[in-house]
Amino acid sequence: MDGFRITGGKRLSGRIRVDGSKNAALPQMAAALMAKGPVQLRNLPRLSDIDNMVRLMKELGCKVEHDGSDLRLETSDDGSWHARYDIVKTMRASICVLGPLLARYGQARVAMPGGCAIGDRPVDLHLRGLEALGAKIELDGGDIVARADRLKGGTIFLGGPFGSTVLGTANVMCAATRAEGVTIIESAACEPEIQDLAVMLNSMGASISGAGTPRITIRGCTELYGCDHQVMPDRIVAATLAIASAITNGDVTIEDFPMDHLLAVVDRLQATGVRLERLDPLEPAGRCTVKVTSERRLKPALFTTQPYPGFPTDIQAQMMTLLCFADGNSIVTEKIFPDRFLHVSELTRMGALVYRQGGTVVVQGVNRLVGAPVMASDLRGSASLVLAGLAAEGTTTISRIYHLDRGYSRLEDQLNALGADIERFDVDAEEARSAESDCSTGTPVT
Ligand code: EPZ
Repeated sequence: MDGFRITGGKRLSGRIRVDGSKNAALPQMAAALMAKGPVQLRNLPRLSDIDNMVRLMKELGCKVEHDGSDLRLETSDDGSWHARYDIVKTMRASICVLGPLLARYGQARVAMPGGCAIGDRPVDLHLRGLEALGAKIELDGGDIVARADRLKGGTIFLGGPFGSTVLGTANVMCAATRAEGVTIIESAACEPEIQDLAVMLNSMGASISGAGTPRITIRGCTELYGCDHQVMPDRIVAATLAIASAITNGDVTIEDFPMDHLLAVVDRLQATGVRLERLDPLEPAGRCTVKVTSERRLKPALFTTQPYPGFPTDIQAQMMTLLCFADGNSIVTEKIFPDRFLHVSELTRMGALVYRQGGTVVVQGVNRLVGAPVMASDLRGSASLVLAGLAAEGTTTISRIYHLDRGYSRLEDQLNALGADIERFDVDAEEARSAESDCSTGTPVT
């Protein structure tokens, strides 16, 4: 198992480009299951979640060619429609094959994903949406089994207690492309990843309008074809890099920064005193070049996570780490996954003063964090610990870095190129060595 050893206190500077978006790419790979002909996806990040999805696509009978950041997927009519628990349990996002499989084969069997470290993650809205298209759904041995001789368009409401659902919208939108007649999704997720999926589906021959708004209209068609699609830049990675510059008092220029998709984050960063300067005001704001600087004399801020265009839950943990360095008290409220706070106790080990009550955390600004051994427990929480390690005095070791590798492509290489000092090491080998040396020196084990 890999870990990171971070020597803190290095100022980041230089230039970096943002990779393609994991959360856009995963449902797009699933959507390729519906195409007659090859689908070419470009600008894919190299991540363990993408590798897991490739494994699932192969199991579903898809031919996959992976070449750097390009992926070619081709499915035939005799593919499989069973996504087994063995794979689904490694990556919850596997649920996004449900709608495409149902659309292509008229049936799908997908293991019900369990909960995960960030809280309960029900899929009731996905199922309700597909039932509204005429699918018959039952649970069998822990699998969701969906069947429909012919999907039929209708009006579907996808709002839930915490807003809409991103992957649920992706599933229903995909299935509806092959339904008879018109489907209207009300209270659809407006996230940019849904807009990017609609662009891809339209280039496959679908007819979707309104993606990016709460009402999406889909006119069903009988066939979808191959396409060539460029995956949008990863807004969560972009924001994490911006915070890395800000927290190290840095001066980093970020290319392919999706400013348009990060307006709530940019607003909160500016409220704390971080400067984000567009270097190419004439380029489209979806992929611009931004210089992020900060003196790290930060002001406190309040923010609440919300569905897009609100502040993203996937940047809550990283922003909380930054606010540890503000001069005063900040308040962070999590409204999407109210238990997504596993990083709080780890930050406390580094000297942060963070107090949680339910879905709200008060962050009392401190002047310094101090390096310590900490443990990663989920993807974005791991990123927040890396940021804390960059800014802390001394050495921070982070175990279970496999969580980070799910969503950040060799983050240590990217940050080291900007001047950070991060070493990836084998935690088990190191523990074994230290146990051996304890035995040989006779250190008592209590
Ligand atoms: C997507 O997950 C992202 N994952 C998550 O990113 C992200 O945190 C989340 O959207 C919210 O933005 C991918 O895109 C692969 P939801 P998703 O369905 O679609 C409730 C990361 O770090 N809900 O939009 O699974 C749910 O419990 C990951 O990259 C229901 O009640 O999330 C939550 O409170 C983690 N019933 C809210 O809706 C349902 O059927 C939003 O969840 C579905 C969801």
